[in-house]
Formats: sequence, structure tokens, C-alpha cells
Amino acid sequence: MQDVIDALDEKREHARQGGGARRIEAQHAKGKLTARERIDVLLDPGSFEEYDMFVTHRTRDFGMDEQIIPGDGVVTGWGTINGRLTYVFSQDFTVFGGSLSETHAQKICKIMDLAVQNGAPVIGLNDSGGARIQEGVASLGGYAEVFWRNVQASGAVPQISVIMGPCAGGAVYSPAMTDFIYMVKDTSYMFVTGPDVVKTVTNEVVTAEELGGAGTHTKLSSVADAAFENDIETLLEVRRLFDFLPLSAREKAPRVATNDQIDRREDSLDTLIPANANTPYDMAEVIEKIADEGDFLELQKDHAGNILIGFIRLNGQSVGVVANQPMVLAGCLDINASKKAARFIRFCDSFDIPILTFVDVPGFLPGVAQEYGGIIKHGAKLLFAYAEATVPKVTVITRKAYGGAYDVMSSKHIRADVNYAWPSAEIAVMGAKGATEILYRSELGDAEKIAARTKEYEDRFANPFVAAERGFIDDVIMPHNTRRRVARAFESLKNKQAHVPIKKHGNIPL
Ligand code: COA
Repeated sequence: MQDVIDALDEKREHARQGGGARRIEAQHAKGKLTARERIDVLLDPGSFEEYDMFVTHRTRDFGMDEQIIPGDGVVTGWGTINGRLTYVFSQDFTVFGGSLSETHAQKICKIMDLAVQNGAPVIGLNDSGGARIQEGVASLGGYAEVFWRNVQASGAVPQISVIMGPCAGGAVYSPAMTDFIYMVKDTSYMFVTGPDVVKTVTNEVVTAEELGGAGTHTKLSSVADAAFENDIETLLEVRRLFDFLPLSAREKAPRVATNDQIDRREDSLDTLIPANANTPYDMAEVIEKIADEGDFLELQKDHAGNILIGFIRLNGQSVGVVANQPMVLAGCLDINASKKAARFIRFCDSFDIPILTFVDVPGFLPGVAQEYGGIIKHGAKLLFAYAEATVPKVTVITRKAYGGAYDVMSSKHIRADVNYAWPSAEIAVMGAKGATEILYRSELGDAEKIAARTKEYEDRFANPFVAAERGFIDDVIMPHNTRRRVARAFESLKNKQAHVPIKKHGNIPL
């Protein structure tokens, strides 16, 4: 018996060596951890249960019969993060460059199937040279099996992708269909075709970092939700994100114990709004001041800064926040902001996470570029996402809520449940100056008259009370009590039931 036990030990040790000491050293030299070291950082100590350690590829072409490495370039299994179940796969770049073979794909598919069956998230740590070149179509078929599962799992269990090395070609489409993508700065990149192909086809000269590095994807393309300095920081941030999420659509996000009193006053909010309506202030400050312990996990920080998205907790409960940011483009809605917020709202709605919206929006961003870029269609995404979401929705208008953007930003009319306004709110078709210039065009030459007209318009509409008179605003609240009022509103909505007409699915303008 001891013999077979020793043999098992040996076999396991062999599998744990992956591509061997030389390649592990090369991985470390690039500042990267190995697939197993990453799992150790991501999961609770000692919680990882590995599956399929002895799986090997089936290819016999191109001398592959002489290179059989147990595990076949991916470490898979399950473990816990702060005691909560998650499935995980971690591609091993030391084994055939982490490339995806038929069997490598089957290992990933196995844990994806288990995750959906058992109601737990999938976290994929990607570090791969793409399709296993020696395998041809078997490898491509493997990718497609993963893609199909990504779609089946979407909305059923949260899926998080972490890009920790190359991710190129077809390989990008699995992460692309997951809920969140985190990248590691300087050591990861994602692109459909690499710099060499780009040079050949379009004659553009670009480095891998410029084409698909973390900077590109967090700032320009918005493919990634966040990027961090190194493997360890990135994986610890994934743990932080995970803690905000439910394990599946079958259950609620966890309640996290907090010492932050729900009726904590925040007097500084009473003086946050500047006297001049055109002076910006930082909406992130509002979010941080009302959140439990000031903890705001902001996503897509470097993209479309005119809207903020992310998670906070109120009374220990996860809440998704969407907020106009007056510091960038005066908080206007544009194509990028609409797309950014719409997808986040749909994530929250899929997983029963209530949505809190802070509004200070002067309207949609005007311009030829916006119209040609399809702001009509992209702005509609945001409107559609809010209107479609059936989770509890609470809205607070802090200052401007002008025109169509008022309707879009979780107004009562598209079925927000509780709508509050600060006394500084201005709910109108447009700003007083613009309105006066249109209504009283013939008087434009007379500055005094125009000033009087502007004042008249301001007095009538530059306040929340016209909307409150109609019940479009449920109450005008003291800014210092925002935390208590919003948390109590969500508490009152926790058993909300919404009725949706029978349908297969809606048709959001894509
Ligand atoms: N299939 C099979 N083996 C692969 C592979 C793939 N797609 N990608 C990398 N490898 C192997 C390499 O042959 C090398 O093997 P070795 O250690 O036995 O020499 C090992 O993985 C490491 O690759 P290497 O090229 O030395 O690493 P690098 O860090 O210099 O470059 C890449 C990484 C991903 C840029 C490079 O390997 C590459 O371009 N791979 C092909 C990408 C591709 O076109 N994939 C198919 C399209 S989806």
C-alpha cells in the first residue's frame, strides 16, 4: 500500500511542476506568479480542491507524443473566498505557453458546468498563447465549448476574468463575455490580432502594450474594468469584488457586518453643492460619505469619467451605484457613459443587487461626433437597462436633472421605486438661460428683460418642488440624512415583486 501512496505523491509532485523549473523561473523573471501560486493568493489558505491534475492532451502530431505534461496547461478546481464557494481555473503559461488544447478546454468546461449546477461563481485566471497550434480545429472547438458555457452561465452565476499574461485571438472572447475583467499592468494584454498582423494588414506600427495593454483597455476600449500593479494586488482586488457579489442568481449578496450606524449624519453634504450651478463638485465624495465605512469599489474608473459605477454597502448589504460626475464633461451623458452604466445596471439586475442612482445631469452631450457615433442607440441602452431592471431602485437628484436625461437617470416614470431630491435639485427641460433664450428670443437685445425672464424661469423650475407637487419626487430630503433615508428606502423595498409581461427576452438596442 505504501508503494502506491508514494507513487501518487510522486505523480502529484510531477504535475505540480508544470512545465518545469526553467520555465517557472522564466515566469518569475517576468514578475508573474505561476498558475498555482496565483490560486494560493486568490483562495482561502488550504481551501483549494483540484480536479483533473492527471489529464493530458491527446495530440500525437508534431512530436506532441513526446511532450506529455499532466494537467495540460491549466489548473482547475474549487475553493473558497472568505468562506464562500467559487470555481476557478488558472492557465499555466509554463506548459505549452498555457495554450488551449481540446483537453485543456474540457477541464475548464467541467468546472463551469459544476459552477452553474452548484450555484457558484467562476473565476478564470488567463495566461495563454491562445489556441494550441498543434491541435488545429480540436482546439478551436474547445474554445467554442467554453464560449457557449460563458453565455449559458451569464446571469446565472457571476463570472470574473483576470488577465495575467497574453490573451490573444479567439481567446479574448471568453473573458469578453464574462461580467468583469481585471488586468495586471505591464504584464498582460488582450487583442484579437497582434502587432505583427496589424502592421501587415493596416500598416500601423504599435506595441503589444499600446494595442492591448491594461492602459488601453481600462481607458480607451473599456474592455477591462480595472487594472492593478502586479499579480498579488490584482488577485486581492478580485477577492474584494467577490465579497460584494451573490454566489448565483438564486441567492442574495452576503450581508457584511458593519459598525457604521445607519443614521450617521453627514453634515458636510449640506454644503457640498456650490452656489454657482456651473461649478463642479466631486460626486464620488457623496458616494463615499453615505457608504458603509466609506468603502466604494469603483469600476471602470479611467473610462467615461462623466459617470461613476461601482459597489458600496448600506447596512451591510451590497448596492450598485450609478452617478453622474459633474467634474467630467459637467456630468453629461455621452455614448461611453451610457454604455458603461447600462451594462453595470444589467449586471446588478441579473444578480438581484439593488441600484442607487445619484443624478446631476445637464443633458446628453451635443455634437456631430456623438450623433454620428450613434448616441441615440447608445443612450437608449441606458434607458432600456434602467426601465428593464426590476431590482429595488432608489434615486437621489442632487442638482441638475435636465431634459431627456432626467427621464433616463432612473426617474419615477421608468419605475424607480423611491425618488428623492436634495433641496438644491433643479428639475427642468433645460437650464434657465437656455430656456429663456428660446422662449423670449425677441427680447434678447434687452439684457434687463432677459435677466428678469431668466429669474422667473429659475424661480419656477430650478427647484425640486414642481416635480414633488406631482409626486415624481417622493420627498425632498436633507443632504445630511441621505445615508439614513436611502438605506431605509432599500429596507422597505426588500420584498419587492415586479411583474414582467411574458416574453423570451427583451431586445435592448445593441
Ligand atoms: N500553441 C502551442 N504552443 C504555444 C502557443 C500556442 N498557441 N503559444 C506559445 N506556445 C509555447 C511556445 O512554443 C513556447 O514553448 P517552449 O517553452 O517549449 O519553447 C512556450 O509556449 C512559451 O512561448 P514563447 O513564445 O517562448 O513565450 P513569449 O512570452 O515569448 O511569447 C506569445 C508569448 C503568446 C506572444 C507567443 O508564444 C505567441 O505568439 N504565441 C502564439 C499566439 C497565437 O498566434 N495563438 C494562436 C491564435 S489564438
